[in-house]
Amino acid sequence: MDLKERLEDAVLARRNLNHYSIYDLGAGVVGKRCHDEDKARNEYHYGTFLKEQGVAVPKMHEIVQYTERILKGEVITWFIIMERIEGGNISSLRNAQRREAERQYRRELEKVLDLGICPVDSDYGGNSLFCEESDKLYLIDFECWHNPKNREELNQFYRRIRRDFLIFKS
Ligand SMILES: Nc1ncnc2c1ncn2[C@@H]1O[C@H](COP(=O)(O)OP(=O)(O)OP(=O)(O)O)[C@@H](O)[C@H]1O
Ligand SMILES: [Mg+2]
Repeated sequence: MDLKERLEDAVLARRNLNHYSIYDLGAGVVGKRCHDEDKARNEYHYGTFLKEQGVAVPKMHEIVQYTERILKGEVITWFIIMERIEGGNISSLRNAQRREAERQYRRELEKVLDLGICPVDSDYGGNSLFCEESDKLYLIDFECWHNPKNREELNQFYRRIRRDFLIFKS
């Protein structure tokens, strides 16, 4: 079965992975229902680029257009198929592990900013997954990430990351 068939199978069987938009395709792969085609392409584009640049993100496999039959109609949805990360939220961690996850969160976001990309929706440790087994934090959810209009826009994100880190440390 190819990835598209595995996705169809998972959606029809409603094999969600702890979130309505994420389906478990098995063998370490998930499918995410994106908001529209542009957002799916955006997520795939930044995910692929960031992985190549050494940022900790899930490996992107494929973009899939999928026609879902709903009641008597049809809805076209766009999915991203990507590597499954076995992990949870930073906020569920404590003590040394929490501090390590927060340190990696800041480090990975700074790499993103140094590449000139605005990590929208990545505040207060959100949109990340920490894998306890490998002690590694991954950034996720790039649907709204973009290249900044000007330097000031990027600087706002640098300031937010510093603010979050002060909150983490307090
Ligand atoms: N690659 C992945 N592997 C494992 N779980 C994932 C993966 N990507 C996302 N998830 C899970 O699904 C949740 C939602 O993912 P994501 O934030 O990308 O989607 P979203 O549709 O933007 O959701 P929200 O609007 O709630 O942020 C994550 O918090 C995480 O628990
Ligand atoms: Mg999200």
